[in-house]
Amino acid sequence: MKNLEKLEQLYEGKAKKVYSTNVEGVVIVDYKDDATAFNGEKKGTILGKGVINNKMSNYIMKQLEETGVPTHLVEELSDRETAVKKVSIVPLEVIVRNVAAGSFSKRMGVEEGKELLRPIIEFSYKCDELNDPFINDDYALALGLATEEEIETIKSYTRKVNETLKAFFLNIGIKLIDFKIEFGRLADGTIILADEISPDTCRLWDVNTNEKLDKDRFRRDLGGTEEAYQEVMRRIFGK
Ligand code: TMP
Ligand code: ASP
Repeated sequence: MKNLEKLEQLYEGKAKKVYSTNVEGVVIVDYKDDATAFNGEKKGTILGKGVINNKMSNYIMKQLEETGVPTHLVEELSDRETAVKKVSIVPLEVIVRNVAAGSFSKRMGVEEGKELLRPIIEFSYKCDELNDPFINDDYALALGLATEEEIETIKSYTRKVNETLKAFFLNIGIKLIDFKIEFGRLADGTIILADEISPDTCRLWDVNTNEKLDKDRFRRDLGGTEEAYQEVMRRIFGK
């Protein structure tokens, strides 16, 4: 984007900073190497993560655009910075599960790695103070977190994202176990995909060995976190 200027910091999240710009409706996200887990209780650094998540997320969002899922992506500006459309985030963490793992396995007493008969879409209320509680559509509607129409749109985009991502990862020898995405509203109310898609927000297992290639290595102190992120990057970009 010609003449785009980074102005002041609007927000600092756990993994990214957001800056205003001189262009109406456009902000800049700046990806950090900071990693947290368990709602910020565990803190650390994953060296090089910001660069990997920035590039990978942008690459994936471009592919999703081609399948008809609108995204916030405007333009990658540098290794860690991307210009994106300014949205107000719908306060729902939209989680898709193809294979049992994580909080689903715990809650349901189902062994990690068990294939689900069909994909699950679930919602959490995006609220750190409450620890992002699990909710259903009725909670979201009754609390006015989203309208019925928005929820339908979100679910329909989410199904498409899952199909595209599953094929994308399989093609590079990775099983997409589950992932979390977030949507935002443009000024006119249009729903678009926002936030990021990266090893921070997906569970990615090697298709042959089931080796974890995602943030669970950090969450669970498995070691080799940086190497796992680099491996995903290498499989996508060949370097
Ligand atoms: P969960 O099994 O812990 O509920 O996680 C499901 C998926 O969502 C997993 O791919 C990791 C991702 N996730 C996030 O991106 N952010 C979060 O805060 C949490 C809890 C999970
Ligand atoms: N969002 C979680 C945290 O804040 C991180 C995670 O488990 O992915 O700490």
